[in-house]
Amino acid sequence: MNYRTFGKTGWQVSEIGFGGWAIGAAKWGTQDDQESLKALHRALDLGVTFIDTAQAYGNGHSERLISQALKERGEKIGNGKVRVATKIPPVPGNWPPFPEDRIEERFPEEYLREKVEYSLKNMDAEVLDVVQLHTWTRAWNRKLVALDVLQDLKKEGKLLAVGVSTPEHDQNSLIEPMRQGKLDAVQVIYNIFEQEPRAEFLPVAEENGVGIIVRVVFDEGSLTGKFDINTTFEKDDFRNLYFKGDRLQDTVKRVEKIKQTITKFGFSESDLPSIAIRFALQHSAVSTVIPGIRNVDQAEKNCTVSDLAVLPTELYEKLQKHIWRRGFWYAG
Ligand SMILES: NC(=O)c1ccc[n+]([C@@H]2O[C@H](COP(=O)([O-])OP(=O)(O)OC[C@H]3O[C@@H](n4cnc5c(N)ncnc54)[C@H](OP(=O)(O)O)[C@@H]3O)[C@@H](O)[C@H]2O)c1
Repeated sequence: MNYRTFGKTGWQVSEIGFGGWAIGAAKWGTQDDQESLKALHRALDLGVTFIDTAQAYGNGHSERLISQALKERGEKIGNGKVRVATKIPPVPGNWPPFPEDRIEERFPEEYLREKVEYSLKNMDAEVLDVVQLHTWTRAWNRKLVALDVLQDLKKEGKLLAVGVSTPEHDQNSLIEPMRQGKLDAVQVIYNIFEQEPRAEFLPVAEENGVGIIVRVVFDEGSLTGKFDINTTFEKDDFRNLYFKGDRLQDTVKRVEKIKQTITKFGFSESDLPSIAIRFALQHSAVSTVIPGIRNVDQAEKNCTVSDLAVLPTELYEKLQKHIWRRGFWYAG
């Protein structure tokens, strides 16, 4: 496992981290806690030192499992060897927030303070490594009060780094707060389809020493190459919505073209998951890529990618041509 500097914090974090949404056992079909714990342990055995979670992943369930796994290994939770990034959801309402939504109503100070205490309790920690707001709107760039509250909580010793996770439809909205020095970390979608962050987002992050956490590197599974047009998901799997209607068909068609590209370079189709991760790692602004991991096999396949060679430049450039400006999936 290779390690990268996490922005201005100076932390060295594993370039492959653990995406902890599915282990929250909500919105991803059946998920067994014992399997999740085994996956966490395997990833940690393989050198993972960065884990992403959120209060919303099973009402704190993902946070609690991560804490359990770390405790079982005698690892300190909060300012320890393994860094855990969590997220605070906004007060219930529009998701993503509407331009008219007021930041003081969706992320009020008292609420943020309570939610930080909630994560500290869930993880049985004295300090949180990274606290991210789970979503954002560009409308809030004129009044960054919630970020100021989190920065105050940092000074008070409750957390070590302040972050935001981008809204899918307008990831560039976080560029301005990064420039203003209000953010230690940002979580962004960056993969073989969603390549827009290379234009300005990633360079700005690098210029301002912001730790970059790359999420959804597999486009929720499609970029592993394992779906076909007949793929179905369990009833409560959110991917029924994500790949609704003709989206799965459109996606599979494009993934087939990506497979054709990689096989021309001597790779096999089964190398696609590792190539998808390596594609994201190729950008120097990226601190860690957090593929979602829900079992030991995925922990092994994903965490060992760090030991593979960087992608040949020519293949990297060919993959750039597979950019897909499909817009905001959830909108309809
Ligand atoms: N708004 C936000 O802040 C936000 C939103 C989304 C995600 N996230 C974070 O980012 C992380 C990553 O995103 P994600 O989990 O949604 O999507 P992802 O990383 O694109 O896809 C993860 C899914 O792909 C499948 N998979 C993983 N490794 C595989 C492999 N080697 N071969 C085949 N299939 C594999 C697994 O599901 P199956 O086995 O069921 O196919 C896994 O749950 C999340 O876990 C979460 O921590 C944050």
